[in-house]
Amino acid sequence: MNVRECTGRQIWRVYSKVYDALLDLMPYKKLVSEVASRVPTCPGRVAELGCGTGNVLSAIITKRKGCVDDLIGVDSSAEMLEVAAVKLPEVTLVLDGALNFLDRQGDGTFEAIVLQNSLYAFPDRQLVLDAAARVLRNGGVLIISDPISPAMSPIISEHLREGSWRSLMSPRFAVVGTVNLIINALNMNGTYAYSTPSEVGRMLAQHFVIEEQSICYAGTNVLFVARRSVAAE
Ligand SMILES: C[S@@+](CC[C@H](N)C(=O)[O-])C[C@H]1O[C@@H](n2cnc3c(N)ncnc32)[C@H](O)[C@@H]1O
Repeated sequence: MNVRECTGRQIWRVYSKVYDALLDLMPYKKLVSEVASRVPTCPGRVAELGCGTGNVLSAIITKRKGCVDDLIGVDSSAEMLEVAAVKLPEVTLVLDGALNFLDRQGDGTFEAIVLQNSLYAFPDRQLVLDAAARVLRNGGVLIISDPISPAMSPIISEHLREGSWRSLMSPRFAVVGTVNLIINALNMNGTYAYSTPSEVGRMLAQHFVIEEQSICYAGTNVLFVARRSVAAE
């Protein structure tokens, strides 16, 4: 295991213990719901890569009226998946790196692939997006929401416009803030990489038609909805 992998493993291990404090944060709940709302309800396999504790998968299940068939959560952190498994006992959860998982899937076998707040942490972003294109059926959809800014203050400000300050005072939330500071530092030193919207657009251009590009999560994330298009190649 190299230094990058080792650092990542420790970060997600610690984060898994407190991650769901984010559910007390209005902008995070809104982000989860916005991402899930882009997932088609038609039958077909859907995977979230870097699913963490399963909050997006939960929202997708609600949208699919409780149907968990063909829904897969993939994450390289066993501790994150342990939390997800308690919440989502019927969902298929796979402990694997995103690229390894995709490399084991057949061509055109997915309806949708979702990445929320995970692409920046992947060492092999372009390869993952190319592999996602391969496993999506022609016309299938890739939904990405990823940070473009390290600032947490817009998220806190937006939360305080609608929500209570009490949830921000919990010890769990203090750890969330600290882990985010470390993740931001790892972004500065190149371990992780927040992309600009145009960089994400360029990574998608070869295989996808971009149907939506918007700013979300209190201005700190970009959201892409990209349709797999064989004709775009
Ligand atoms: C910030 S969390 C996002 C969790 C979830 N998508 C959400 O938005 O609530 C990022 C997740 O990506 C996972 N991750 C990081 N690198 C990964 C990789 N190469 N393959 C799969 N998962 C990875 C981490 O373990 C972590 O659970």
